[in-house]
Amino acid sequence: MRWTERQCALLGEIGIKGWWPTPPQAPRAVIATPPQPAAPAPRPKEKPIPITVPRSEPAQPVPIIPPVVAAGPTATLDWPALRAAVAGCQACSLCESRTQTVFGTGHEQAHWMLVGEAPGEQEDRQGEPFVGKAGQLLDNMLFAVGLGRGPSPQGRDDPARQVYIANVLKCRPPQNRNPLPEEVLRCEPYLKRQVELVRPRLILAMGRFAVQSLLQTQEPIGRLRGRVHRYQGVPLVVTYHPAYLLRNPIDKAKAWEDLCLARNVILGHQPSHHP
Ligand code: URA
Repeated sequence: MRWTERQCALLGEIGIKGWWPTPPQAPRAVIATPPQPAAPAPRPKEKPIPITVPRSEPAQPVPIIPPVVAAGPTATLDWPALRAAVAGCQACSLCESRTQTVFGTGHEQAHWMLVGEAPGEQEDRQGEPFVGKAGQLLDNMLFAVGLGRGPSPQGRDDPARQVYIANVLKCRPPQNRNPLPEEVLRCEPYLKRQVELVRPRLILAMGRFAVQSLLQTQEPIGRLRGRVHRYQGVPLVVTYHPAYLLRNPIDKAKAWEDLCLARNVILGHQPSHHP
């Protein structure tokens, strides 16, 4: 991957300094070149991915609930029907407090699928995931690896350059409290169907809650980072939640390592074996 000056500037902005090769002198119109088997483009220097012990990610475990099989009517829905099902969902009490559901956004065949926890206040108001400050940081980090959440002049309609973003929960928990196991149980078929429809090459699970829910574990993020897991057969890489990174900028470098690992999995440079 070649690094534009803007990408380097964004990396600096998100706290990743001095990791990349000197950017090309001439401004480039294209954000990132797709993999070229014959002549691979230079990639940024990457430190080996360490499996690190967490320092400050909140320790409280997410309760483990039994896995849900995408079954029943949800398992056969197409995009419009799934969207409508989510919009009208009354499967748990969150439907009483939400302004609207937050379905998900991005390219419906994106190679990358990002999964967060649940809508916050702004997402509940706007109906789109990650629109607040954490969303801005996420957008900057995605841009730095040549990705976006919508059509761009460079990569319009290119599923390799866009992401699909969804949350474990489609409704905002009141006062942004932690999702309850019952709420996850009711909502998970929607996410499973989204994964089935997108068929991403990689899932990036962001934050303790999404990670522990998807992987059905109580292991902390620090112990799950640096290797490739699976969700519904799809390779899954674990990283910190952007909101956590805003509070703990020192861990942005680790999140950058996670993005590099994810990119390597997508490019086939990293084996994505079963754990
Ligand atoms: N945090 C999340 O996990 N998801 C959102 O959509 C917004 C904030």
